Amino acid sequence: MAEFTQKVDHSMKSLMSKQLPSTTTTLIHRAIVGAPDWWRDAVIYQVYPRSFADSNGDGIGDLPGVTARLDHLVELGVDAIWLSPFYRSPLKDGGYDVADYREVDPLLGTLADVDALLAAAHEQGLRVLVDLVPNHTSSAHGWFQEALASAPGSAARDRYVFRTGRGELGEEPPNNWLSKFGGPAWTRVTEADDSPGEWYLHLFDSSQPDLNWENAQVHAEFEQVLRFWLDRGVDGFRIDVAHGLVKAPELPDWTGRTTTATGRKRRPNVTDEGPMWDQDGVHEILRAWRKVVAEYPGDRVLVAEAWVQPIERLARYVRPDETHQAFNFEFLKTRWSVPRYRAVITESLEANDSVGATTTWVLSNHDVVRHPSRLGLKKAGSFPAGIAATDEQPDEHRGLMRGRAASLLMLGLPGSAYLYQGEELGLPEATALPTEARQDPTFLGTGGNKIGRDGCRVPLPWVADAPALGFSPSGASWLPQPASFARYALDTQLGVPGSTYEMYRAALHLRRVRRLGSGSLAWVVGLAGTKKKKVLAFINRDVMIVMNLGAAAVPITPGCAVLITSRRLGIDAEGRQTIPRDTTVWLRFSS
Ligand code: GLC
Ligand code: CA
Repeated sequence: MAEFTQKVDHSMKSLMSKQLPSTTTTLIHRAIVGAPDWWRDAVIYQVYPRSFADSNGDGIGDLPGVTARLDHLVELGVDAIWLSPFYRSPLKDGGYDVADYREVDPLLGTLADVDALLAAAHEQGLRVLVDLVPNHTSSAHGWFQEALASAPGSAARDRYVFRTGRGELGEEPPNNWLSKFGGPAWTRVTEADDSPGEWYLHLFDSSQPDLNWENAQVHAEFEQVLRFWLDRGVDGFRIDVAHGLVKAPELPDWTGRTTTATGRKRRPNVTDEGPMWDQDGVHEILRAWRKVVAEYPGDRVLVAEAWVQPIERLARYVRPDETHQAFNFEFLKTRWSVPRYRAVITESLEANDSVGATTTWVLSNHDVVRHPSRLGLKKAGSFPAGIAATDEQPDEHRGLMRGRAASLLMLGLPGSAYLYQGEELGLPEATALPTEARQDPTFLGTGGNKIGRDGCRVPLPWVADAPALGFSPSGASWLPQPASFARYALDTQLGVPGSTYEMYRAALHLRRVRRLGSGSLAWVVGLAGTKKKKVLAFINRDVMIVMNLGAAAVPITPGCAVLITSRRLGIDAEGRQTIPRDTTVWLRFSS
């Protein structure tokens, strides 16, 4: 007889007591009753336009390339796409350095191409989110150029964060903050009379001056930018660096000491914590934007990129009048361990449920090492900022097996999920890019000390034996594709049972028809033949998801039908199917 530590729906209770003898079941999260808002259970696919598909042969992916391949995304079964920036930009930070928020970069297309993409996507039932980059502009933005040409104290300078330096001659930066890409977060300008002048703040590259969110014009401008794209028909925005817009008053030095809630001191993360991140003022800005999107029909959404912890802090971004979603990076960063997964999933659902929000799962994006490669490291699931050829190389096969298991775990969880282009192919990080090809400001800004993010931004392989693996008709590719990418090309996986692509496609389909995204989560502990620390198991609606991280294979629960597996199942001495290590399966209770 199953034991219930919390109240469970009646139908589920009888099902479980019949089928899961001697287990303990703990309900953490209830299913949504009725039809959920579209985004609460959506699977959203991130397109990094430069690396998706190149239509004109210049080796740079572009918007017409995306439009031409939308059928791939429809076939895969996602609900929406999020496009990383395509705005006019010197591309010093892959377009996260915007020179004009209302123009498309000529390398990526035109406004007409955006309109065509939106029309085609909507026609095929896909929603489209675009990126909003409000923390900083490019130094090539008209406002910054005007600020440089204007005097200290001018209105033009007030749109950014200019300060006089410290030291007798102002030769020292105004405070000790560091740029995420290396070096001080301040750069000194030369005034019109050629004298050394003020310093401006840039939490990222020196070509990305931070805006001053105390300035009313900055607020007004971004509201107009939102409206500009909403009027064109976008379905929402991913808000870049949402946690960084507002800085602590007076820009205090950061002492680098972080005390946890329990009073324990821990080693701070020098660029992710401090008086420049997660200030209360950001929430007012998000609230104002929520009001703007709410004026438009069609349930348009905001998703926050906010690298804040703990999870309770992140939940503040998804309170009912703020952003709809916020990427769950704590989940992304989870080490390969059952107790850690159990803890992060529980904490995430509880924190988000407490504010009525959905949990937004994610494993990969354009800023992190691709998850199969992170999971192929000796310390599986550790979080290096990049992997260089001279670093420990991930075990590709093991990483792929674990990556697929992690993906099936994520897609079985209630909530929304983001996929990063290429993960449906199982792509690994490219670790051996030639130095001269690297473009990430992290690499360039640290003199190569930090390898950076180029390795997850390599153009996609579509066709194994085509020029540039089908990425570009001319064979050009702005970052070279490793030879091994041919093995991952879409055409080698299409229709191939057991391929990563077919696994994702089947999982998305099952997730939809079984309504797992709006479903429930009840932990199951004590399944026959499993150890609590090695096997993660939960029930979502009528599906039980079981993930085996232990070295020993574990039996499939009798009476359950296998819906999908991340890896071929084993067979035990009695001829029964077993779940091998590093594998996730979805099982259905037979009725
Ligand atoms: C975000 C983006 C990242 C970019 C940074 C600065 O973290 O995802 O790619 O470099 O913001 O805009
Ligand atoms: Ca192109």
